[in-house]
Amino acid sequence: LGFARHLAQLGLGVDVASRGELIVARRAGFPSMQVHLHGNNKSRQELENALRWGLQAIVVDSLEELDLLEEIAAHQAIPARVWLRVNPNVDVDTHPYRRTALASSKFGLPIEDGQAAQAIRRLSSSSWLELTGLHCHIGSQIFDPGPYRRAIEIVFALARAENFAPRDFSPGGGWGVRYTTADPPDDPEPWVEAISAAVVEQCRRLDWPLPRLVLEPGRWLVARAGVALYSVGAIKTALDGTRIVAIDGGMADNIRPALYQAGYTALAAARPEAPSAGKATLVGKFCESGDVLIPEVELPDLKRDDVLAVPVSGAYQLSMASNYNLAARPAVLWLDNGITKIIQERELAENSDWWVAAG
Ligand SMILES: Cc1ncc(COP(=O)(O)O)c(C=O)c1O
Repeated sequence: LGFARHLAQLGLGVDVASRGELIVARRAGFPSMQVHLHGNNKSRQELENALRWGLQAIVVDSLEELDLLEEIAAHQAIPARVWLRVNPNVDVDTHPYRRTALASSKFGLPIEDGQAAQAIRRLSSSSWLELTGLHCHIGSQIFDPGPYRRAIEIVFALARAENFAPRDFSPGGGWGVRYTTADPPDDPEPWVEAISAAVVEQCRRLDWPLPRLVLEPGRWLVARAGVALYSVGAIKTALDGTRIVAIDGGMADNIRPALYQAGYTALAAARPEAPSAGKATLVGKFCESGDVLIPEVELPDLKRDDVLAVPVSGAYQLSMASNYNLAARPAVLWLDNGITKIIQERELAENSDWWVAAG
């Protein structure tokens, strides 16, 4: 909530993907006209809440959901703005778990088999739902603008075939972030330029007014803002000679390396320039062999209680955190021009319901 408040004050818009995120966006002060609801399986309650709050758009993800939303909107007599999330079937060079617009993807209405066109037609005769925009999201950690151009061509070909000039258009997010020096540069200029040029070109060709462009570069905006700090605990040498350094966190506060081999680097927070004492494997403290934060990283000599800093930890890290092994989640500090504030208290096992329930 503290973080959301800062983002709201900047005047940003926000995607929400659950009732919890909807409630936080509202409490954080985002105007409803800057919020859109995403998700491939929105519940009735989520749709009802979104209708009542009057969002910028509910982003419909399937024909089934379109029927359900129409039914709820009619029952409650609340009209709504709708975007369609369409699937342009564009492959991107990223981990398979971060590709979101393939033929087998769970997200969006496929274009090629006519489902997206069917949704546009159904909406044109809807009494309660107004189609205001088209959206696609092709994946994450993408460093090449090419697939965005292709996706835009495909989505506008659909729009042209259905004679629907979108008032809003969103080609999603997904522009890459440089987590380690192995990643390419992550200047967003080529991405923004390619998208705007492609949209302008399509609209000129069709003699359509330019839509309002909504970009969703969540990771790019926040990843670098976060640095994770861990304390070193046990250090050992494995049978094969690997130097194993264990930290007081791991897959419960950052599931990304275990989920899709996300890469990170680490350095001694108090001695960032300290020379390397060789390669190490940085592991967490959880009961899984896959609980490896960084499989191979150059680290100086370390001892218990040294603090390690893991940069670029601001996106999809604490938001994906769990209480696995009944771990308590860490505190979150906000640092701004020399001022430090606690924006999320450290969880204490003793204060948690599950601890109380366990007696
Ligand atoms: C619809 C939509 N927009 C934007 C994003 C943000 O992607 P990223 O944070 O990688 O830019 C996602 C991520 O899954 C998404 O599903």
